[in-house]
Amino acid sequence: MISPQKHIRSVVRGIGSYLPARSVSNADLEKMVDTSDDWIVQRTGIRNRHIAGEGETTSTLATAAARAALDDAGLTAADIDLIIVATSTPDYTFPATATQVQAAIGMAHGAAFDLQAVCSGFVFAVATADKFLISGSHKRALVIGAETFSRLLDWSDRTTCVLFGDGAGAIILEAQEGTGAISDRGVLTSHLRSDGRHREKLFVDGGPSTTGTVGHLRMAGRDVFRHAVGMVADVMNDAFKATGTTAADLDWFVPHQANRRIIDASADKLGIPHEKIVVTVDKHGNTSAASIPLALATAKADGRIKPGQLVMIEAMGGGFTWGSALIRW
Ligand code: UT7
Repeated sequence: MISPQKHIRSVVRGIGSYLPARSVSNADLEKMVDTSDDWIVQRTGIRNRHIAGEGETTSTLATAAARAALDDAGLTAADIDLIIVATSTPDYTFPATATQVQAAIGMAHGAAFDLQAVCSGFVFAVATADKFLISGSHKRALVIGAETFSRLLDWSDRTTCVLFGDGAGAIILEAQEGTGAISDRGVLTSHLRSDGRHREKLFVDGGPSTTGTVGHLRMAGRDVFRHAVGMVADVMNDAFKATGTTAADLDWFVPHQANRRIIDASADKLGIPHEKIVVTVDKHGNTSAASIPLALATAKADGRIKPGQLVMIEAMGGGFTWGSALIRW
């Protein structure tokens, strides 16, 4: 057991992702609702999204991403002792999707639970896993963001149905001894916020304790947009302050992928050059808690993100919830 007095860091050991095979373009959506490729591209930057097929659920997507992350790390389920699945679209109201993943990868030890912070879910899950690992209680965490938002959408509402997609991404964080300096690999700092007064701006109009139904996603998009940029800038500044770093130190900015305009405005506010932004919203749409690990996996696979580089992740979503984490890859 590692002593908690030492500088333990949660280091990224592996990453994986999974996207459903079915790809839906803006042109496909033009046949379903009164919208246009032009409107969607100009207002959001989205051109395409993936939609889960028959037999695919959040846990099957999450399991595929988890297996890819284990392969990437050269580890097996026996090496993992914690699974956290960030999702707002669980297979069932209970048990937790994380326990479905646990069973699917053949793991009967350790602990598995879900975490729900909507689009900020992955950042919340990374921060939570980090606290477990640095406490010395756990050694290796599988941290997954997985969603099937297509199952929550009102497909007759053009203001929301064009925005979202399905997918999953997973990282493995491992407790390793560092020096305490910001040159250490691993999660260097994380900052989480929420403000429940904003519930009505982005919510699902159903649930087990209210309507007894799953419900549909409802969003006052313009209001969410108005809050998003300031909120994510605040938590990124918190990360810079906590580590004595600045935007100039970042190698990669990997934001939640909701809207290209929000991403660019956030980068501009912090002075982050656009060539350092990882953008996947054009190909994946907004996959909620899955968007950041999908973007990280994309940039790792194409050789952009390399070990030792400084990566900022941030997200904002329903609740409102928002947060950031600064990771040395
Ligand atoms: O991940 C969680 C956080 N969520 C977000 O970050 C989403 C934040 N919000 C947004 O990304 C943007 O607000 C949207 C993309 C949702 C909307 O863009 P907007 O520039 O804020 O547009 P708007 O809501 O002000 O709507 C402008 C017009 C409206 O028509 P009128 O009232 O001006 O005649 C809408 O009815 O666009 C219309 N519209 C559409 N037109 C074609 C709304 N949806 C569509 C559509 N196709 N799909």
